Amino acid sequence: MSRKRPPLLSTIGTKTTMAVTGLLLLGFVLVHMLGNLQVYAGREKLNAYAKLLQDAGGVLWVARGGLLAVFVLHVVSAFRVAAMNKAARPVPYVSAVPQVTSTAARTMLLSGLVVAAFVVYHVLHFTLGVVDAGNHGHLDAKGRHDVYGMVVAGFRQWPIALSYVVAQVLLFFHLAHGVSSAFQTLGVTHPRLAFLKGRFGTVVAGVVLVGNVSIPLTILLGLVPCGAC
Ligand code: HEM
Repeated sequence: MSRKRPPLLSTIGTKTTMAVTGLLLLGFVLVHMLGNLQVYAGREKLNAYAKLLQDAGGVLWVARGGLLAVFVLHVVSAFRVAAMNKAARPVPYVSAVPQVTSTAARTMLLSGLVVAAFVVYHVLHFTLGVVDAGNHGHLDAKGRHDVYGMVVAGFRQWPIALSYVVAQVLLFFHLAHGVSSAFQTLGVTHPRLAFLKGRFGTVVAGVVLVGNVSIPLTILLGLVPCGAC
């Protein structure tokens, strides 16, 4: 006799958690990208924006805690879904040639793990200053953390710029499939919203890819002035 799981831990409950947390993370990635694109507006704009976030104090820590909780829930539910899929088919297919699925769909766990590893590396880089420590913690003329100088000096080093580009390509594949899949799971049925389950994921993932990759690339090519960094 099979044990009945509480709704949140059932297959559909776990998939729904993965879908909702995935869309919340997408929201963060989009807002974060828009914030970062201010690097093109210059040192004053980017550093003022970073200071605004820093000055949010308690609110910033609540947002960080919420983001971390959402991230952990997303990863845990991804592993649970993978385990449930495996348990549903303990004997693998004799011929594992996929018929209708894309590369992005088959490599979700792998691309997700690489993106997760990138986030750890990225926080060690820009937030904690463990990676490229020499360019971290400088102040600008107004005594604010010189985030602009840190980003520009960081991406002028090709191994760092390249590692970001590679991570963004994997993020593209993860989002391209993940976003459409999330709307599929959430059961979007209205015909007018059908696009959300189709090309929308690829379009959003493409926007994130172009926006994010542009930053290390334009900096590496010397198109963003360094000033006093
Ligand atoms: C080329 C693309 C990116 C650039 C230039 C960038 C830039 C930055 C910078 C400058 C910070 C530190 C902000 C500060 O100390 O004031 C930061 C923090 C962070 N970034 Fe990014 N980022 C990029 C892509 C991403 C992506 C794709 C993700 C997630 C998938 C991400 C997640 C985070 C997180 C979680 C933090 C820590 C936030 C905190 O300290 O509260 N970033 N990023």
